[in-house]
Amino acid sequence: MFETLTPKPADSILKLIGEHQSDTRAEKVDLGVGVYRDATGNTPILRAVKKAEQWLVDKQTSKSYLGSRGDAVFCDAIQRMVFGDAAGSDGRIATIQTPGGSGALRVAAELALRSNPDVTTWVSDPTWSNHTPLLGETGIRLRAYPYYDSGSRSIDFGAMLDALGEAEQGDLILLHGCCHNPTGMDLSVEQWQQVADLVQKRKLIPFIDLAYQGFAHGIEEDAYGVRLMYERVPEMMVTHSCSKNFGLYRDRVGAMLLVARDEETAQTVDSQAQFVVRTMYSLPPDHGAAVVSRILHDAKLRADWLTELDAIRQRLKGMRSALVAALQEAAPDHDFSHILRTTGMFAYLGVSTEQVERLIKDRGVYLPGSSRINVCGITPGNVRYLADSIASVL
Ligand code: LMR
Repeated sequence: MFETLTPKPADSILKLIGEHQSDTRAEKVDLGVGVYRDATGNTPILRAVKKAEQWLVDKQTSKSYLGSRGDAVFCDAIQRMVFGDAAGSDGRIATIQTPGGSGALRVAAELALRSNPDVTTWVSDPTWSNHTPLLGETGIRLRAYPYYDSGSRSIDFGAMLDALGEAEQGDLILLHGCCHNPTGMDLSVEQWQQVADLVQKRKLIPFIDLAYQGFAHGIEEDAYGVRLMYERVPEMMVTHSCSKNFGLYRDRVGAMLLVARDEETAQTVDSQAQFVVRTMYSLPPDHGAAVVSRILHDAKLRADWLTELDAIRQRLKGMRSALVAALQEAAPDHDFSHILRTTGMFAYLGVSTEQVERLIKDRGVYLPGSSRINVCGITPGNVRYLADSIASVL
């Protein structure tokens, strides 16, 4: 039967991992897949995570099944982190643990289709390169709204609002909660408020992907958009990932949070979500979620984790400034200052696909063809080489 299949090209981001690994040049630089790296280029296990894992080794008494919703204690902690402590007392939020943010996105799309087979999901152009296949493979209809203007290297907010003005009642609007992937350009507070006005007026449903909470300005600050929408609309969907903020990439920890009109509807939605999970992967993996749960429920571990997260943010900010300063020297005729207006892991460099190919081939600098850079790949030791490499292809 398999002879009917034709080969699929490798994922444009994931394939860079192998390509970079097999490059033997000592000076090579990896600006590809979105994982955090420290100043030595290592992706560390956070100290709070190590301590929580040790606690689990010592204290966990069972690895029995927990059910399709996952661990209720984890779900409660994530719900508070996303919506704040005050939310949820009205019973309108249903939260389930998922295998990473990707698992949450897929379950959310399946659930949206079960509620409304004709629903359209509006995704930003550009968006995370896996959003379209991951959601689209469910059969859900996708439409793009403009988000980034490569000429001015900023958000094309007018065009975004115009496009969303065409969305129909009940359409899902996929927004990046913070640290927009791939552009690194986030909506301002005023822009979030305008989007909320539009969503409210046209009775649209916010679908917020919060994959980088804590990487832009802080845990509370990065939840601004989600919490604003929660105050303003009767229904919304949020997907959350613990891959980046807890560094638990391969452990697959995430959550899907659904806000319904009332408690009774939330319970129905929760039962449907559990059915979708049961028929897809049955139950979510536990280990990483148990680690997160332990960290969020232990005051000392939580404080340690927040300190580590703060250091990650500071490093990203520092490397952005260092790259822009080095580029000013290496390529004084070109303006890269837009990178200073980006947050989180990513920014668009703003060079062509052909220039990206030369960066990879001639200089061993790995990044996707869109020219998205993972700022975490920049270190004090490679920033000058990187700036010289970029200058050499301009
Ligand atoms: C990225 O955008 O690089 C990350 O979210 C990793 C991935 O799965 O694509």
